[in-house]
This record gives sequence, structure tokens and C-alpha cells, in this order.
Amino acid sequence: MNNEILQKVEKLLSEMTLHEKIGQLNQPETPSADNAEAFKEAVRNGEVGSILMSVGATAGNDAQGAIDISFYNEIQRIAVEESKNHIPLIFGRDVIHGHHTVFPVPLAMAASFNSDLIEQSYRDIAQEAAQESIHWTFTPMLDLARDPRWGRIIEGPGEDPYVGARFASAVVSGLQGDDLSKSDTLVACAKHYVGYGASEGGRDYHRTEISDYSLHNYYLPAFRSAVKAGARTVMSSFNDVNGQPITSSSYYLTDILRDKLGFEGFVVSDYDAVIQLKRQGVAADDADCAAMALNAGLDMDMHDYCYAANLEKLVESGKVSMEAVDNAVKRILYVKFEKGLFDHPYCTPAGYDKNEHLKHARELADESIVLLKNSDHLLPLDKSAKICLIGPFATERRSLLGSWCIDGTAEETPCLLDALKESSTGKIEYSSGLGLNWDSTLKKAYNSDVVVLALGESWSSTGEARAVSNISIPPEQLAIIKKVKAAGKKTVGVLFCGRPIEMQEISNELDAVIYAWHNGSASAPAVCDILFGDVSPSGKLPATLPRLATHIPLYYNITSSGRPVNCYYNENPYDCYIDSIPTPCYPFGYGLSYTTFNYSRPECDKTEISLGDLEAGKKITVSVNLENAGDYDAKETVQLYMNTPVAKMMRPIRELKSFKKIFLKQKTNETVSFELGYEDFGYYDPCGNYVVEKGVRNVFVGENCLTVNKVSVIIK
Ligand code: BGC
Repeated sequence: MNNEILQKVEKLLSEMTLHEKIGQLNQPETPSADNAEAFKEAVRNGEVGSILMSVGATAGNDAQGAIDISFYNEIQRIAVEESKNHIPLIFGRDVIHGHHTVFPVPLAMAASFNSDLIEQSYRDIAQEAAQESIHWTFTPMLDLARDPRWGRIIEGPGEDPYVGARFASAVVSGLQGDDLSKSDTLVACAKHYVGYGASEGGRDYHRTEISDYSLHNYYLPAFRSAVKAGARTVMSSFNDVNGQPITSSSYYLTDILRDKLGFEGFVVSDYDAVIQLKRQGVAADDADCAAMALNAGLDMDMHDYCYAANLEKLVESGKVSMEAVDNAVKRILYVKFEKGLFDHPYCTPAGYDKNEHLKHARELADESIVLLKNSDHLLPLDKSAKICLIGPFATERRSLLGSWCIDGTAEETPCLLDALKESSTGKIEYSSGLGLNWDSTLKKAYNSDVVVLALGESWSSTGEARAVSNISIPPEQLAIIKKVKAAGKKTVGVLFCGRPIEMQEISNELDAVIYAWHNGSASAPAVCDILFGDVSPSGKLPATLPRLATHIPLYYNITSSGRPVNCYYNENPYDCYIDSIPTPCYPFGYGLSYTTFNYSRPECDKTEISLGDLEAGKKITVSVNLENAGDYDAKETVQLYMNTPVAKMMRPIRELKSFKKIFLKQKTNETVSFELGYEDFGYYDPCGNYVVEKGVRNVFVGENCLTVNKVSVIIK
């Protein structure tokens, strides 16, 4: 930590009353016009530390209105000029995957496996948001999720801890830049710490069942990485782990987050979570809630005024120490200093290059799209092909922007019909496919060279408080797929989805399938880039697509069972269920290209290494030769998985340890190398200690988690 800042913080703290200190811990939301004057008075009195610049418990689901910069500048002026301590406020808003320019939803971003593009996108996002008074965003969302019924799976990086860790560092670096005090950065907030993605049955806000072993190996790595990348804030999650609400758990908020992970910033609660401790059954009244949360290490109280109403009395009665309050205040002030708010409290928009941001959004959308099926090389289409575009998503705009897009504009977002007309030179016929006029739709289909179906799920069935029990596309869309079959035309399905959906039926019926997610402002142009082959698809699945919803949870990094009934890897799949085969429809890491990539067998620079050498920092280099044998220049995500056949704890059959996204021109090849060191060969025991055991490691390098292309190394 920076000594100069620490001294400033101490000095300021020494001049503050308890009332003013508690004000720093209080984060109300933007007041309504009726409340604005009373709110300003509270700011004047030092009773507000931050503003949540949105309204409502699930702000991503509601229209929030444009940001009034002059209002925030005025509030800031009151804090800086008229309050006794002149402490600026920090303004926070959920800028989750875009501001005015909307980028793909985070699950889709993860599918790009392109950390550089993700980082670049968050640079753009920070630049846009910072020009509208925003200092702090509640991003990245790092909840590992294995249940697609959970609506919030859309907001995070999917089912894999390593992908989560890479995503975390890219987002934090993008948002915070190399100097947080610059005016075009945002303070990042790693959330929801921890385990929220394991909400039972995918039902939002529910309890979780997470073993310590899983916690350290699956749920914590992304947070570890965010902390390492310098995330200045963390949001505690609504859920409990091990019978303890995270909001009131000093074990999770202090022992693990601060002492083990080394987090030095401040923790903000989730919305109203402090007061909800009563409903969770661990606090008798509001005072209990405040005492438990603060004593646990939760610094800022979002929205429920529980700290503001109770902490003064709690300190007087000795239930909360002044030291605990001081520590929370110090952490918040420290971040305010780091963000440069004392020197530059006001927002003065400098403008940004909207076209450049749109270009980046399109690049990321291009790389997020996953080609699932391409029978007889139906794709790419010729630009002059006669296309019949059918389906409700042909003219859909809002859903393409995804959940948690509170500042994007649907009207400015091209739909697929617009984008097709723009990029094709052939005749485009269109029908929604809904309603009674099916004969005319069928006629259009007959007269076309190919049918493109635009299908998907609405943005409003994804996101917070949007769990679903049916993870398929709506029945009327399934009906369209079936009816189009009657036209006997080759059919491409474009699926605009925010979660993994059940794929068996859809996949069987269609000739080609493009998983296009909710990819933001450039969703539709990016689909055209893929449809016409201007870009070869390179997205890979960050979460398994099941055949049937009843097969979930279904994720790749499972441990072996004593009897070989491992469905994911096709070991006696009939023994898993007697009525269906629960192998994935499309496994983790899967995604097709227009070219053919050939992998050589992996080779190691040494096949044995001593544990001592690893501890001393020596590494093993694993290399493969990657050949682009086809007729397209294309990108491929080379994935490296590991398996430890014998260890003291059961280890996953495969776990992703590294990946590299490589661009290769057609008919060229390249050696792709990975360095594996101490941090790659071990795992965390249930106490959270990192262990590297001696013995064999199988290292797999290939195109998805089912690859059998392996080499073995021995740690002696
Ligand atoms: C969500 C958070 C969000 C917060 C503020 C909560 O309901 O869980 O992810 O940052 O609201 O809008």
C-alpha cells in the first residue's frame, strides 16, 4: 500500500466524528426528485459515502433513465465544498458488459477465449462510463455456474475456474488501467464473493452446498485472480456457504478473503443484504445485522441504511469497536484517494470514439460466436444466396443487448434482418414464422436457396431473479424448426441465447447451428460475418450444452467415480440413466471452424522434473504443432488440460490449465508452447493449502475437453 495515501487517510480519519465515519460506510441509491433536497442535506452532513446510481433491487431488469451528470456534479460539489471533511463521494453503477456501446454478455465474452479483446472491451467500457460520472462498477461477476437454469449464468464466465481466473484479470486490468487515478478508469468490484453461482436448483438467492475442497479449487480461483490483478473492491454475495451467510461471515470475508487471498481493498454488501440477515435467520434485529456484518469485515452497506441507523449505538454499547469502524472507513478512503477523487471530484466529459468502440464490440462478438454444427459444409453461405429469414429474432433488437444493459439503446441496435440486408447481395425474404400465415412463409422458404432461422430467448428470461425451469427455446420456436423441415431446404439455426440451452432436439433438426448469444450492439453484424465467412468462427463453449435439461448439472471437470459410469466422458453412459444418454450435446471448449486444424502429438522439453526444481521456479515446456490445413485464415483456441491419475484427493478427469488463441493463415502451421510450473501442477486441499504431489500428470492439448491428444510427465 502507498504510504503517502495511508498518511492522508489517517489524518482525515482523526478529524472525523463517529457519525461522519459511519456516513462513509453508507451507500444509498440515487434519490427520487421528491427526496433530492433531503438527500443533499445528508451529503452536507457527511452521512453518505457513495451513491448507487440506479434504483430497484434488480436494477438490470428495469429501465433506469439517462444519467444526469449535472445532478452528480452538484451532489459532489456539496460533498466536497459544503461538508465538514470535504470527502468526495464515489459513484457506482452496474456497468456489467457495456455502457452505451454494449459488448457481448460475459458468458459470451468468455467464449471468445480472447483475454486481450476482453481487456480492450473493458477499457472502452470504462472510458464511456467514466464520462457519465461513474467511478466504480460492480464488475466483474465471477460466479462459477454449473446450472443453466440460474438466470445469472449469463453474467459470469461459465463453468471453469481457470477461464474465470483469466476473465477476472482481463476485466480488472481493462477497467482499472495502469493508473486508477486517471479519469478514464473505473474501480472494479469482484462479485459475488462467494459461491452465489451454486444457488441450489439454479433458483436465485438460494442456499448453496459447497465443500471446502470445491470452494478452494472451483469457486475461489477467479477471486484470487481478481485480487492479484488489483481489484480494489469486492461485493459479498447474498448466499450462505456452510450455513453461514457470507454477509456476516468473518471466516469468508476476513480469514479467507483478506488473510489468504491478500485482498486489501473494501468490501461492499450486495443490495439490502445486511438487513436480510434477519431473514436468513442469524440475526434477531437490525442492530444485530449491522454488528455482525461490520465485525465480519463488510465495509460498505448497500442501500438498506442498516449501518447508518445502528452503528453509532453499537459502538457506544461496545458491540462494535471503534477500531472496526475505523478500519472500514480507512479502506474506503484509501480507494477514494487512489481513484483520484480528492484531486478530480467532478465529471468533465471529454468524448470518445464511438466507432472505435463499436468496432471492438464487433470483433469480440465475432470471436464469441460458437459454430456448433455445419453439416456438409453448408456454411459459409455465398453472399448472393437467396435467403429466407424466419423467426421472431429476425427483427429482435433489445434481447441482443442482453441482461444488465442499463444504458444501451435497442433502437440503435441492428437486428438480423437489417444486418443481412446490409451484407448480402442476394434476395432476402423474411417471415416471423409466427401467426397463421404459414403457407406464405413456406412458399418463401421453397423459393430460397437456404433458410436461416433466427431463434432465441428473451433478455428478460435471463439475469437476476430470472431463473427458469425450462432451458429450451420457447415451444413456438421449436415448432418453426419442425415446420421448416417440410420445405426440404437446408436450414441454419442462429440461436440468440443468454444461457446454455438443451440442444438435442434443436441440433438434430438443423443442418447448421450458430450459437450467437446476446452479443451486444454488434450482435447481428457479427452473425453476418460468420454466415458469409468474412470471419471464420472461433468461439468455444465456456459451459457445457446438455442434450436435455434433466441432465444438469453437467460439467466437464468432474472427478472419476469408483464404478465407471462417467457420462461426460462416455464411460458406460447407459449406466448413468437407464432412459437417456447424458453425454454432453456439445462439451466444454467445443466450437467448429471453417478450416481444419490438425494437432501434432504434444511434446515436452523434459518428461521428468523434481518437485524441488518446480518449487525453485523451473518449468516444463509442452509444445504442439498446430496446422491450418484448410482454405480459410482462422483462429483456434489451443487448450491444455491436465489430469492427475493418482493423488491423495480425487482430482478431475480433465482440468483446463492454460489456453492460447492463435491466428493461422491457411496452409500454414506453428508451434504452440505452454510453460507449466509449480502453480500449474497442484491443487488446494480442503483447508486451502496449495499442494503439489509427486507422481504422474497427463497433459492433454487439443481443441476441446474431450481431446485424447496427450503426453505424460512425472514429478519426482
Ligand atoms: C445484484 C448485484 C448488483 C446490485 C446493485 C444486486 O441485486 O445482486 O449484482 O450489483 O444489485 O445493482
